[in-house]
Amino acid sequence: MKAVVYTRYGPPGVLQLTDVPTPVPRENEVLVKVHAVSLNLSDWECMRGKPAYARLGGLFRPRDHILGSDIAGKVEAVGHNANRFKPGEAVFADILSYKGGFAEYVCVPETVLAPIPAGMTFEEAACLPQAGAIALSGIWDKGQVQPGQKVLINGAGGGSGMYAIQIAKLREAEVTGVDNAEKLESMRSLGADHVLDYRQVNFVRNGLRYDLILDLVAYRSPFACRRSLAPGGRYLAVGGPVRTILQLLLIGPLIGRRGRKKIGVLAVRLGVHNIDRIIELCQTGKVSTRIDRRFPLSQVSDALQYLGEGHAKGKVVILVD
Ligand SMILES: NC(=O)c1ccc[n+]([C@@H]2O[C@H](COP(=O)([O-])OP(=O)(O)OC[C@H]3O[C@@H](n4cnc5c(N)ncnc54)[C@H](OP(=O)(O)O)[C@@H]3O)[C@@H](O)[C@H]2O)c1
Repeated sequence: MKAVVYTRYGPPGVLQLTDVPTPVPRENEVLVKVHAVSLNLSDWECMRGKPAYARLGGLFRPRDHILGSDIAGKVEAVGHNANRFKPGEAVFADILSYKGGFAEYVCVPETVLAPIPAGMTFEEAACLPQAGAIALSGIWDKGQVQPGQKVLINGAGGGSGMYAIQIAKLREAEVTGVDNAEKLESMRSLGADHVLDYRQVNFVRNGLRYDLILDLVAYRSPFACRRSLAPGGRYLAVGGPVRTILQLLLIGPLIGRRGRKKIGVLAVRLGVHNIDRIIELCQTGKVSTRIDRRFPLSQVSDALQYLGEGHAKGKVVILVD
């Protein structure tokens, strides 16, 4: 089968389209013929080996040689003890822990798969798993946004931000989206009430206070973030440099006590079994998926370059078939 393989960390040039043996499902696994796989910042991070947590799967060289985690496709074959799915069924999954989605076929444990919801295309299903889980958890479950609250989403022009803006608006919050200038219009059209270009404005210095700051790309110190929180407010970091994440974990809860603020890192329960609510919102048309660009499997490196250079508004999808 064709797959996009890498054996060392680096820029998109480390990815090579090549022929590799088609995997064979072990007893509890399912072989999925991949139709669509969406890109996440985690693919970019795992390709480059930065931030440091992206090297958990191999300190000096990547252990998994095929990236790609949010997949949608059809069951091709099942292992001896796998009985949840039958060949031909349309399925999707977040396989961040296993990876291997940038390929024509991938083997995954049957427990991580779910049927593609009625009315959803392969490409829409591939967009939802990781970005949907982050948005649901950050805005709804852990963010606990209430009507009328002020919410700032930093990095809102990307995949998770696309869903996070819409969910926050459904929760009747006043939403500020922060991203680069190219993405301001896109954030506005998703419902953001205010938009800021992070290259022009530093939101921790504009004197405004928010009830929730969902930080998809956390670079600031916990002290700076505390300043921007209203009394009782929450700051949740989703991703960012390890130094910032460690600072947040170590001193965030402590310094948050003043003003009854909660400052910390959002641990998202990933997996398609945790995103029922956003699936329902998509099926009822309350939340939509914006696919900015589609690329074939042979152009995964171009697609990641596009994402990494900051052009992607919403999701980027690889169409494998
Ligand atoms: N906590 C968890 O449990 C968990 C689970 C899974 C994934 N993650 C993490 O979640 C993060 C978000 O992923 P995603 O897929 O939503 O990313 P994404 O689609 O790439 O969106 C991130 C956005 O942030 C923007 N950005 C970059 N630097 C910025 C800055 N300094 N200020 C404001 N915006 C900035 C990017 O724009 P530019 O184009 O300008 O760079 C991009 O539009 C990743 O770091 C990933 O590792 C966390």
